[in-house]
Amino acid sequence: MQQKEAAKRVQQLREEIRKHDRLYYEEAAPIISDREYDRLYSDLVDLEAEFPDLVTPDSPTQRVGGKPLKAFEQVAHLTPMLSLDNTYSEDEVKNFYNRIQRLLPNEKIPVVIEPKVDGVAVSLIYESGKLRQAATRGDGTVGDNITQNIRTIRSVPERLRDAAPKLLEVRGEVYMDRKGFEKLNEERKKQGLPLFANPRNVAAGSLKQLDPAIVAKRPLGIVLYGTGATEGLDVDLHSEVFPLLKKLGLPTTEWWRVAKSVDEILSAIHDLDAIRHKLAYQTDGAVVKANSFAQRERLGFTAKSPRWAIAYKYAAERVETVLNDIIIQVGRTGILTPVAVLEPVFVSGSTVGRATLHNEDEIKRKDIRIGDTVVIEKAGEVIPAVVEVAKSKRPRDAKPFDFAKHIHGKCPVCGGPIRRDPDFVAWRCENLQCPAQTTRRVEFLAARGALDIESVGGIVADKLVERGLVREPLDLFELQIEQLAKLNLGTEEAPRVFGEKNATKAINAIERARTLPLSRWLFALAIPDVGKTTATQLARFHDNVDEVAHSQLLRDVLDYHQKREQKESAKEIAERLIKAGFAERSKSKAGKDGIVTEVGSVVAHSILDFFASVTGKKILRRMKELGIQPKSEKVSAKKAAELPLAEKTFVLTGTLPSMTREEATEKIESLGGHVSSSVSKKTDYVLAGAEPGSKFDKAKGLGIKIIDEAAFRKILPR
Ligand code: IVH
Repeated sequence: MQQKEAAKRVQQLREEIRKHDRLYYEEAAPIISDREYDRLYSDLVDLEAEFPDLVTPDSPTQRVGGKPLKAFEQVAHLTPMLSLDNTYSEDEVKNFYNRIQRLLPNEKIPVVIEPKVDGVAVSLIYESGKLRQAATRGDGTVGDNITQNIRTIRSVPERLRDAAPKLLEVRGEVYMDRKGFEKLNEERKKQGLPLFANPRNVAAGSLKQLDPAIVAKRPLGIVLYGTGATEGLDVDLHSEVFPLLKKLGLPTTEWWRVAKSVDEILSAIHDLDAIRHKLAYQTDGAVVKANSFAQRERLGFTAKSPRWAIAYKYAAERVETVLNDIIIQVGRTGILTPVAVLEPVFVSGSTVGRATLHNEDEIKRKDIRIGDTVVIEKAGEVIPAVVEVAKSKRPRDAKPFDFAKHIHGKCPVCGGPIRRDPDFVAWRCENLQCPAQTTRRVEFLAARGALDIESVGGIVADKLVERGLVREPLDLFELQIEQLAKLNLGTEEAPRVFGEKNATKAINAIERARTLPLSRWLFALAIPDVGKTTATQLARFHDNVDEVAHSQLLRDVLDYHQKREQKESAKEIAERLIKAGFAERSKSKAGKDGIVTEVGSVVAHSILDFFASVTGKKILRRMKELGIQPKSEKVSAKKAAELPLAEKTFVLTGTLPSMTREEATEKIESLGGHVSSSVSKKTDYVLAGAEPGSKFDKAKGLGIKIIDEAAFRKILPR
């Protein structure tokens, strides 16, 4: 085909595709089958690949990789995607190099030092220069087919340049650069949506989207740093891979070094540390790899990772800055948290202007004063904290910080009374109507994991309370679309309304929330001491909120503990609780009829007190009035013991390929299992993902069964 003819056909195809996109996405009335659409699309892709000059930024191929999927297809990697041993210690890097030298005596072993990219691992397959498949790591053997999503990344070429090998499986990390991340969060802030925690999370979340149109809007990048299976590729050294990838048009690591001794390795690691923040992507360490593929093969693998590589992770970064002020924030339970207002500094990949000071005692202990130069620390994902004061730089007139005096003995938001519990480190605002508390409770009710009302985030909650549209969280259920649509999220001078579309979305989510499972509601109500685990346990034993509020089981727990304290027999109650499945006979506790209850006495107290309080009673009444009926998740006692994971204790470590920790926990608990935070002899399984922590080693030491996600899925009922 000639260029001219091709140009015409390309034009036709684009118009045709746009028409079908419109029919499909906007009018939900497609007139051709998926197969036919795919054919048009791939014709265009092929033509554009053949005539790259014809590619325009507005071509459908440049925007979206295809249509939304129902689920990701599982695809096998040609070679497994492994993880690396991690260390924070230079000594261990030294040990690593000494070890490989011992294993290959009398040989020189050059190694490559390169950035450890803090993104999401992916594997791409190019066949005869054409992008065929892109997949997530998954369990290392099988991953999600995310080809459509990867195609939306502009820097991933559809076709390789130059003499492409017959087969190239290439590995790397997808990331979102800092600017893109900050811009995205700014937009979300404007819309009042919850902010993303860090670039890595957004990149991971983006790749999990089933609709590539969403992914296409996220400014993602990719760094490729290694090969998997290849055919027709003639390289012996890893250091040859970088220039080769570059020549083929694939984005790759610009910074890397070859070293031949421990000293050279460590100095490369230090050099990388000095420049890594200038890279477009976030890095959290340096990877040291044997350069020669032949030597790699001889060094081989341990059960978990290759012997020929190690990842050195940089310690949390510390910088000095001036503490300009201390402000006090009021949380959803009224707790007053001091926050440092800092002279903005750039640390670990982002600009930091605030840091938590935790509580009054912490300020006293570290003797932190306004005007001080403070050292702040931030590890990749962690909230920045003030570690210490550079006392030598203290201004002469800096005075010790007096918390109560600073806020004149009252809540800085509502002016209400505050109290410091003698056993408790925090001050608390005692006014339940305090607008700051209400806002935080509204936000909490709507948050992910609670009622999941995505469009009601911090700013929206703020404004709803400020404008008096919401006085308590359940008021959300009486909002009208028009009220919400008109809500001004900006200022009077520069108004910015929430809008019809967002309002409709929010109202729909609020409607959906009415019948969410009971456990979600119990969590969302922000009952003191009730986290997700307790909420789930409660929901297994009660049909509705009312039953929890007047729970005989919880009262029995209290009675049981009271009787035991007064050295009376609690046998009868113990038996009752065991029979109900709410307690187990204690294995370790001395004394007869010792039991362990699902929920302890402190928590039981909190729950019953909450529902007996004015606030709690009002919540119950209003839920009834509003017709809110959470879905029951109750299982009968007999059934509970029969659940597939009954009495099994799990510990989670590392990042699982396709589920979050919360999802895994939810799954385990819904099947009667229990998730614990530390490994002990009582642990039945350790569910380990990528980059597991010390729990992995401890489990290994104790001989506890370690399973990956694939094995976990196998023990789940079908
Ligand atoms: S090489 C068998 N190189 O970190 C060795 N990995 O903890 C395969 N990563 O699974 C990995 N930057 O997801 C390698 N320059 C780099 C890397 C890198 C980031 C990730 C990758 C890997 C994990 C290991």
